[in-house]
Amino acid sequence: LNVDASPQNARKIPDKMFGIFFEEINHAGAGGLWAELVSNRGFEAGGPNTPSNIDPWLIIGNESSIIVGTDRTSCFEQNPVALRMEVLCDSKGTNNCPSGGVGVYNPGYWGMNIERRRVYKVGLHIRSSDAVSLTVSLTSSDGLQKLASHTITASKKQFAKWTKIEFHLKSSQTNTNSRLQLTTSKSGVIWLDQVSVMPSDTYMGHGFRKDLASMLANLKPQFLKFPGGNYAMGNYLRNAFRWSETVGPWEERPGHFNDAWGYWTDDGLGFFEFLQLAEDLGASPVWVVNDGSSNLHGLLGASQNEEVSTATIASLVKDVVDGIEFARGGPKTTWGSVRAAMGHPQPFNLDYVSIGNQECWMLYYRGNYQKFYSAIKAAYPDINVVSSCDKSTISPSNPADLYDVHVYTSSSDMFSRTSMFDNTTRSGPKAIVSEYAVTGKDAGKGTLVAALAEAAFLVGLERNSDVVEMASCAPLFVNDNDRRWSPDAIVFNSWQNYGCPNYWMLHFFKDSCGATFHPSNIQISSYNQLVASAITWQNSKDKSTYLKIKLVNFGNQAVNLSISVSGLDEGIKSSGSKKTVLTSSGPLDENSFQQPQKVAPVSSPVDNANEQMGVLVDPYSLTSFDLLL
Ligand code: AHR
Repeated sequence: LNVDASPQNARKIPDKMFGIFFEEINHAGAGGLWAELVSNRGFEAGGPNTPSNIDPWLIIGNESSIIVGTDRTSCFEQNPVALRMEVLCDSKGTNNCPSGGVGVYNPGYWGMNIERRRVYKVGLHIRSSDAVSLTVSLTSSDGLQKLASHTITASKKQFAKWTKIEFHLKSSQTNTNSRLQLTTSKSGVIWLDQVSVMPSDTYMGHGFRKDLASMLANLKPQFLKFPGGNYAMGNYLRNAFRWSETVGPWEERPGHFNDAWGYWTDDGLGFFEFLQLAEDLGASPVWVVNDGSSNLHGLLGASQNEEVSTATIASLVKDVVDGIEFARGGPKTTWGSVRAAMGHPQPFNLDYVSIGNQECWMLYYRGNYQKFYSAIKAAYPDINVVSSCDKSTISPSNPADLYDVHVYTSSSDMFSRTSMFDNTTRSGPKAIVSEYAVTGKDAGKGTLVAALAEAAFLVGLERNSDVVEMASCAPLFVNDNDRRWSPDAIVFNSWQNYGCPNYWMLHFFKDSCGATFHPSNIQISSYNQLVASAITWQNSKDKSTYLKIKLVNFGNQAVNLSISVSGLDEGIKSSGSKKTVLTSSGPLDENSFQQPQKVAPVSSPVDNANEQMGVLVDPYSLTSFDLLL
């Protein structure tokens, strides 16, 4: 392997080269990154896959002791459904309530993870014309073991109007499969709405589950694309993500059915929270907006798609410009003031807006795109507008700052796509490869070989970073209890998580953003399974500079490689260098909750690092050498 590290042949890799794409798929947000523990907090859930609009709430008691239903008497205009509990039993009457009382419980998203000594913030809205004694408790999944509880009492009429109650619960024990119970032994009618339980300590205090947000932060993502994907579009337009319905107080958000992936979301993780997450991660937000079309084309064929015509797209265009004002406008602007009222008077740095997801072929896409482009540029000339069409369609009369590329393919094809951009025209807009993944048989639920193929693809993107500006894998998260898409980079349930091999693979690329790329070439006969890249990067903590050489061996042979580095101003220091290897005993190996680190990087010091080095590259491996300069 010859590495030419001379300054005259070096090139800067874009600052935002590697980021993440967050889609509300697989319960990535609702029941995942968003730390709300109650599923369907507002009793609004609806849609073809939801058995009732109180699902997954269940009843404690029988018909002779309690009748539970919903009506539309909530104090929230946008989400009018409230839970109505008519308690027929009473501890003082002839119809005695069972011990522990009657009521409802919520199992959360496949069990709530309640931890000993951790404090949980509870909020709920209540109304009743009767005297109330309602016990709110966190319990084991069968309700028998109490972890924490609080009783709300009120005299007759005290809750005649909707009243918001907030308090904290501190758990005495840990139980990863807990539930929230609301029980009473007093007859009367109680209405409840917007029942929420959240850990009081979330990532940066902004509502994100700490362990999962930390996994994202560890990738040092330079951009965050959100909210989808198909989720952004909806299978039907009425179920698309509409930013303005996801901002303001959580209780007032209507929520919506995520029909692309088959579940309800309360939209606690809304437009504001996505922008906040990007800020917390030090990443640039890339907002994907609905361009007036739905996903139906993917499901039912082109003839049945839903699409807003260019003649009638104006209100959606205005909605997007308003959304940018929400993110960037001063605190006195119409929408900036809404953001300021949510606790963020400073504008967010929103510099990228992606028009649609993957609808270039649709009848009105190009006409609609032009309307979005002109309106955004007129109001915010510096915003980078991303087209869903390929580079060949972009011209001065159909301009775009970036064009979006999605690549889903087998591992062998992904490996060969290391050269996908080698012959791309060097002028014109650059690509954002915002979704890429190995899919199919050898991808499993996240195999080593899939990660290696993706690594080879990324090596190709680094080499072509004069025509590729940004890249992110897809999907990012899966809640193991509701896997709608495989593979995904991070797997979790209510209390555990692990990174798939491709999550660990991404760590090999996190120093590349803004680094210096150096050309390299491999001379090897009769083995075409090896690709390599070389960069120099600076450790921001101690300011040390490293030459990082990455080697992807996609084949089953170990390779003895001589590395020869030329063109360095100063040589490689003999100590202070390290080697990191991602490999395993078999190419189809995966991580799991039982073996979360089966396929994970292992680092060791490199002795006698030098401009001329002989190294042994393991079969099916990704290796990096960080050589101290
Ligand atoms: O990443 C999963 C899906 O794949 C996305 O929602 C869509 O954009 C793509 O087809």
